[in-house]
Amino acid sequence: MHAKSKKTAGKRPGKAKKTVCLGLESTAHTFSAGIADSRGCILANERSAFRTKEGGIRPQEAADFHLQNAVPVISRALEKSGLKIEDISLVAFAQGPGLGPALKVGATAARTLSLIHNLPLVGVNHCIAHIEIGRLLTGAKNPIVVYASGGNTQIIGLTKKHYAVFGETLDIGIGNLLDSFGRKLGLGFPAGPVLDEWYFEGKNYIELPYSVKGTDLVFAGLQTAAEGKIGKVPEKDLAYSLLHTAFAMLCEATERALAHTERKEVLLVGGVASSKALRGMLGKMCEERGAKLFVPEMQYCVDNGAMIAWQGLLEFAHGKRTKIAESAVRQDFRVEETEVKWI
Ligand code: FE2
Repeated sequence: MHAKSKKTAGKRPGKAKKTVCLGLESTAHTFSAGIADSRGCILANERSAFRTKEGGIRPQEAADFHLQNAVPVISRALEKSGLKIEDISLVAFAQGPGLGPALKVGATAARTLSLIHNLPLVGVNHCIAHIEIGRLLTGAKNPIVVYASGGNTQIIGLTKKHYAVFGETLDIGIGNLLDSFGRKLGLGFPAGPVLDEWYFEGKNYIELPYSVKGTDLVFAGLQTAAEGKIGKVPEKDLAYSLLHTAFAMLCEATERALAHTERKEVLLVGGVASSKALRGMLGKMCEERGAKLFVPEMQYCVDNGAMIAWQGLLEFAHGKRTKIAESAVRQDFRVEETEVKWI
């Protein structure tokens, strides 16, 4: 596994004038503000995450949480960076994909800052931002990207001038699978960290449905079967079996994408990257194929404003400007829609 330390991450020498971007992220349960400069230095990355006791996410409640947290989080990011709003060159925001009400808070905050302080506005794709901060911080060049989070599970790679989704979940995100299962066990939200510990304590594999269709994944059958066995088999064995099956499916689809593209790098991003079980299984698969697994530091794997700031800088440097009239949020914003001019 390869990851540069935060101190050296992305730093580039040179005296060229820096462009500084404030990036806002609010696609789901996190409101985050990050600040990055055009040399690839991350100057701040502050966040607040919406949590419910019973788990799950209600979009309007998340949006209300973001409304309350937007100003304090942006203020903290400025304070952390040692900059004032006057030092900021542009504002970027996650335009999609995500939950409509939540997205609107970040977009509204970005528009407001843009108008009040006369700053250029750049709306970016959230998934591409995950990839580009990962490339910046790990040094991965042309990886197969495994984006595994609560709502997203995609295998992505660059093809000429666009990122393309080689494979993805056809139903729920892998993180939602784990959280739903954890909720049924009364583990609270997020359940992933506890399940990940149990993975290493489970002793016996219990047969569960395994469904990979080419490079696409289907988790609903696995979810129904695993949840139906709760109370009938030891729970740690069941947790081990669920994680092992879900991650094996993801590894198989990733390996297929690697084989098709003849690439030698895998970049793991998204909140589920925190799973030691997943990193171990992907790492083993990569080792067997002579490929390298790259995983950024966790604060840059989860939803974060720094990745939006960096993506804003990349697109701004290649002429992107988002007019207010074109800044409406896009819940289904696909990675294929953005032309990759910066590579
Ligand atoms: Fe994300």
